[in-house]
Amino acid sequence: MANHDICSKTLWILSVPLAVLLVLFIALTAYATYSFHIFVPIAPDNSIDCEYMFNTTSEVYLDYLENRTLLEPTRNDRNCFQIRRRRYLPADMPKSMAGNHNMFFIRVVSKDYDFVEEVLTMMHSPIHFFCFALDVSADELFKQRMFRLGDCMVNILVPRQLFNTSTAHGMLNAHRRCLMEIDEFEWKHAIITAEHDIPLHSTKFLSRRSRRLRDQVEMNGVFFKEEVLDNANPNDTSTQLFQVSRNWIQHLCSVATISHSQHEKLYDYLLATPDFNLPNDEHRETSVVEENCDTHKYDVDGSCLYAMEDFPSIRNTTRLFIRADPHYDFGFVQCVHEVVFERTYFDPISNQNANNYLYGSRKNLINDYRQN
Ligand SMILES: *[C@@H]1O[C@H](CO)[C@@H](O)[C@H](O)[C@H]1NC(C)=O
Ligand SMILES: *[C@@H]1O[C@H](CO)[C@@H](O)[C@H](O)[C@H]1NC(C)=O
Ligand SMILES: *[C@@H]1O[C@H](CO)[C@@H](O)[C@H](O)[C@H]1NC(C)=O
Ligand SMILES: *[C@@H]1O[C@H](CO)[C@@H](O)[C@H](O)[C@H]1NC(C)=O
Ligand SMILES: *[C@@H]1O[C@H](CO)[C@@H](O)[C@H](O)[C@H]1NC(C)=O
Repeated sequence: MANHDICSKTLWILSVPLAVLLVLFIALTAYATYSFHIFVPIAPDNSIDCEYMFNTTSEVYLDYLENRTLLEPTRNDRNCFQIRRRRYLPADMPKSMAGNHNMFFIRVVSKDYDFVEEVLTMMHSPIHFFCFALDVSADELFKQRMFRLGDCMVNILVPRQLFNTSTAHGMLNAHRRCLMEIDEFEWKHAIITAEHDIPLHSTKFLSRRSRRLRDQVEMNGVFFKEEVLDNANPNDTSTQLFQVSRNWIQHLCSVATISHSQHEKLYDYLLATPDFNLPNDEHRETSVVEENCDTHKYDVDGSCLYAMEDFPSIRNTTRLFIRADPHYDFGFVQCVHEVVFERTYFDPISNQNANNYLYGSRKNLINDYRQN
């Protein structure tokens, strides 16, 4: 019976790892089931009560204008977990919320890691792609943090190559690098924005809107059909395409929506037009500034920098993105984040009719949500 003894001993020894494996398996299955069915967005972390910012006669609002919240850099992270703990960047999402028209968001960045992360969180959705090309002026810490962000998230790309975006061609080459990065993936439209652009709508809204463009390109709100790009002559400076695209580049490439089928043609065209210097901190654009700018603060390209004064009317504007300066009024960016968060996760209408966002009567939504 010696054989039998050895056999049961072996079984006994084996049963321990087997039991551990079984428990692990059950735990994993339970966890997966749990996370698929319970989808709990985390409201943006914000020390300002944005509700008061709708009332321009309230004391809280007037005090805020005297002492605005400015960007406070967080400490460098050691690992991906710290980013995930700080930001809500889900790896999975119900289809009804994510949509299924894959978008690719591209911008050149050079500083203010926390602002980049805040805006990314406003727009993030696991089925879309995000690419951040870095300017040569980026400092060591910024590069390190951006590269880590790219390494931590599969749908966030941060090319290791740096670009001198002080000229039009430098900027266009940076975008092109991003466009080529995942060319084999099934993204449908790319949205190019400037470093300080913040969205006013949910990513799902942007994705639905882009789908209607089909094979067109939209720059500065002007649409170009495929045939226009086919026949475009970069030496002809009298065409609408030339003038609109030049204006778009001068405004730091904010904002364009480009279909996957046209991006090569468009960038071939743009890179064949003359190169020129872009506005930057050293030489700002001062002759052509945006009109009706309440704050009288302008970005280097003359675009208006929006701030808390504009918050009460933010739900009424049809613009997709506006410019904001985190070193002038970061609290405004945080309050817009709340609006976009509501539009992304709570708007009961957006699933049926993405155009209808005027549900202003339910202002307290985000606070109700936080208390639960
Ligand atoms: C706005 O604030 C003022 C001053 O605190 C207050 O009297 C007024 O009722 C508020 N308006 C609204 C609509 O809450
Ligand atoms: C401005 O606000 C900050 C944070 O809310 C506060 O610590 C600081 O004392 C305020 N400064 C002034 C001059 O009110
Ligand atoms: C970027 O290019 C501009 C113009 O070509 C040049 O003056 C500048 O020195 C370059 N910057 C860097 C950091 O290489
Ligand atoms: C544009 O001009 C350049 C140089 O003058 C020339 O080499 C090129 O062939 C022209 N392109 C077209 C499309 O006419
Ligand atoms: C926004 O639009 C609504 C409805 O059209 C209007 O009642 C409200 O006064 C507008 N708010 C601002 C701040 O313009």
